[in-house]
Amino acid sequence: MILVTGGAGFIGSNFVLDWLAQSDEPVVNLDKLTYAGNLENLISLKNDSRHIFVHGDICDFELVASLLKQHQPRAIIHFAAESHVDRSILDSSEFMKTNIDGTFTLLETARQYWNLLDSDKKTAFRFHHVSTDEVYGSLQPNDAPFTETNLYQPNSPYSASKAASDHLVRAWHHTYGLPVTTSNCSNNYGSYHFPEKLIPLVITNALAGKALPIYGDGKQIRDWLYVKDHCSAIRRILEVGKVGEVYNVGGWNEKANIDIVNIITTLLDELKPDSQGSYSRLITYVTDRLGHDRRYAIDARKIERELGWKPAETFETGIRKTVEWYLANQEWVANVTSGEYRLWLDKNYSARQV
Ligand code: NAD
Ligand code: TYD
Repeated sequence: MILVTGGAGFIGSNFVLDWLAQSDEPVVNLDKLTYAGNLENLISLKNDSRHIFVHGDICDFELVASLLKQHQPRAIIHFAAESHVDRSILDSSEFMKTNIDGTFTLLETARQYWNLLDSDKKTAFRFHHVSTDEVYGSLQPNDAPFTETNLYQPNSPYSASKAASDHLVRAWHHTYGLPVTTSNCSNNYGSYHFPEKLIPLVITNALAGKALPIYGDGKQIRDWLYVKDHCSAIRRILEVGKVGEVYNVGGWNEKANIDIVNIITTLLDELKPDSQGSYSRLITYVTDRLGHDRRYAIDARKIERELGWKPAETFETGIRKTVEWYLANQEWVANVTSGEYRLWLDKNYSARQV
C-alpha cells in the first residue's frame, strides 16, 4: 500500500481518486482537514475498503511513526501543505509549521521506518515530495523556462517554505540515503480546486454575479497544467523515476491572468449564458498582491525525455472540462464556500482598492 499526505485537498484528492480508479493497491490518506481539506472530494470512496482515511497532522511524530509501522507502505507521496500565496502573505505561521516542520517530521519518521525494512523493501521504497515551480522565483519576459538546475530564488512566504522543504528532502537523501524523488510542478487547475485560487474563484464568482478580481495589471504569467496530468506525472515518477532526482512538471501552457479570465468568461457565456450580458462585465482590477511574481514557466523536457511523460490535456480541453465540472457540482461549491471561506474573502479582498 501507499501513504498519501494531504489527500483531501485539491491535488491529493484527485491523486487518490485516480490511483484507486487504476489500481487495487490501498491508500492510507493522512490529512489534517484544514480549511482546504474536504472529505466530500472523496465521497465516492465512502464504502471502499482500499481507502483508509486518517484525520491527523503530519507534524505529529508519534502518529506518523505508528501509521508507518502499522501499514508498512511501500511509498509515501507527500502533498500536505499550506498552499495559498495570499494566505502566506497575511499570516505565514501555519506555512512554516506544516511545510517545513511537517516535511521534516515525515522525512525523519520515514527514515527510521525505512532503516528497519529488509533489503528488497528498502530498495523499492520511495518518498515522493510534491513541490512547486514557485521555488525558482520569477522570470523576466524573455527568460528561458525553469529547468531542474535553476537557482532557488523563492519570493513569497509560501514559496520560501516549499523551498525549505525541498532542501530537507534533498538532504535526507544525500545524508541518509533515503530514496526520495521530488517534482516541481506549475499551477494546476481542475475538479475539486478550492475556490480561493484564481481559476475556481473566477468560475464561482461569475456564477454568483460577483466581481472577478484581477490583481495589478493582470499580465502576470502562469504555466497551467490540468490536475490529472500532474497526477499521471507523479505516478510515472513513482514507477520509473530515478532516486534522488528532481523532475519539473508542466503543460507548456503560459498564459497571462487576464487571458485566463477572458477564456473562462467566454466559456461560461457559451455554457451558461447570463441574461444580464457577458460575464466579462464583472472583471474588476484591484490592488496587486505584495511581491507578486511576474512569470512562471516550466521546461518539462527532462520528465518527457527520461520518463516518457507528457500531459494528455491541452489548456482548451482541460479548462472546458473544469468549467463543466463546476457547473455540474454547484452543491460541492456551496458546501465548501460557507463559513471560513467567507471570512477569507473579507480578509483578502475588502482592503483592496478597485
Ligand atoms: P490544498 O491546499 O488544496 O490541500 C492541502 C491539503 O493538505 C489539505 O487537504 C489540507 O487539509 C492538508 N493539510 C494541510 N496541513 C496539513 C497538516 N499539517 N497535516 C496533514 N494534512 C495537512 O493544496 P493543493 O493545491 O492540493 O497542493 C498539494 C501540494 O501540491 C502542495 O504541496 C503544493 O505545494 C503542491 N503544488 C500545488 C500546486 C497548485 O497549483 N495547487 C502546484 C504545484 C505544487
Ligand atoms: P493563484 O491561483 O493564487 O496561484 P499562485 O499565486 O500560486 O500562482 O493565483 C494565480 C495568479 O492569479 C497569480 O498571478 C495571482 C492572480 N490572482 C488574481 O489576479 N486575482 C485573484 O483573486 C487571485 C486569487 C489570484
